[in-house]
Amino acid sequence: MTLQNIYPWILRAQKEGWAVGAFNANTLEQVQSIVLAAQAEQSPAIIQISHRALTHIGSGNEIQGIKYIAAVGKIAADSITAPVSLHLDHGTESEVIQAITLGFTSVMFDGDGLPFEENISITKRLCDMAHSVGVCMEAEVGEVPKPDGKEFNESAIDLTDPDEASQFTRTTGIDTLAVALGSVHGLRAKSVALDLERLLAIRKRVTIPLVLHGSSGVSDNDIKQGISMGLSKVNVATQLAQAFTGAIRDVLNKDGSLVDPRKYMSAGRNAQMEIVRERIRFFGSSGKAK
Ligand code: G3H
Ligand code: ZN
Repeated sequence: MTLQNIYPWILRAQKEGWAVGAFNANTLEQVQSIVLAAQAEQSPAIIQISHRALTHIGSGNEIQGIKYIAAVGKIAADSITAPVSLHLDHGTESEVIQAITLGFTSVMFDGDGLPFEENISITKRLCDMAHSVGVCMEAEVGEVPKPDGKEFNESAIDLTDPDEASQFTRTTGIDTLAVALGSVHGLRAKSVALDLERLLAIRKRVTIPLVLHGSSGVSDNDIKQGISMGLSKVNVATQLAQAFTGAIRDVLNKDGSLVDPRKYMSAGRNAQMEIVRERIRFFGSSGKAK
């Protein structure tokens, strides 16, 4: 199937109380693991590529990264019958424009750190552009921290204000809203609880589907409850990277003389495919592509 605008599936997920998984990839094998899992589970899925992954894929040149991954994403989607979208995750303004132009079917503008009004005006401009060519648009109100191994102050996290969320969605016209409920990017253990009361308050004011970032560090119980309350797109990165790299580490540890990249990269691909399949089942999207 060609790359899809996955929004109809996200809307259906919202209505039926499940979520579409958005899975991060940094390498060809990680992209393949996602489509293989989507096909095996007959589930809609999102391949998502972060700002930093673009830099990696483009050997330091983000635009080159967008071009590479747009081509790879098209081929990956064509290789299966389940619906798959290619999403720019945490994009800058210029990356969003390039991604829309070069064939991504979904984009996120990350206005993290911008004054609220500026976040609104850039997001609105980008959203109009995305919609003019049938691309799905996500943006964020509040902050899901990206500590990247550094210390951060948990009590200073800027959680999503329900009134701001309402004003933001009405003014910008976005399709999905990323909300900050206490999750943090890049955690290696499921140690965080979500502010579900806040989610309820947001849900009362915002009708569009909501997005959970930083799911790797959130307890599965809270993810499950959050999905039933309207988190209809769930982003997963670190959990996948742990499985991918862990499998490669095992293979290399077992055979110190191994040099053939196919042997260890395929182990990483299989391990990531299994965890994507597990998440798809957990999010309730298995079988929904039919
Ligand atoms: O945008 C990507 C996600 O929010 C993933 O976060 O690495 O904590 O799973 P994670
Ligand atoms: Zn994120």
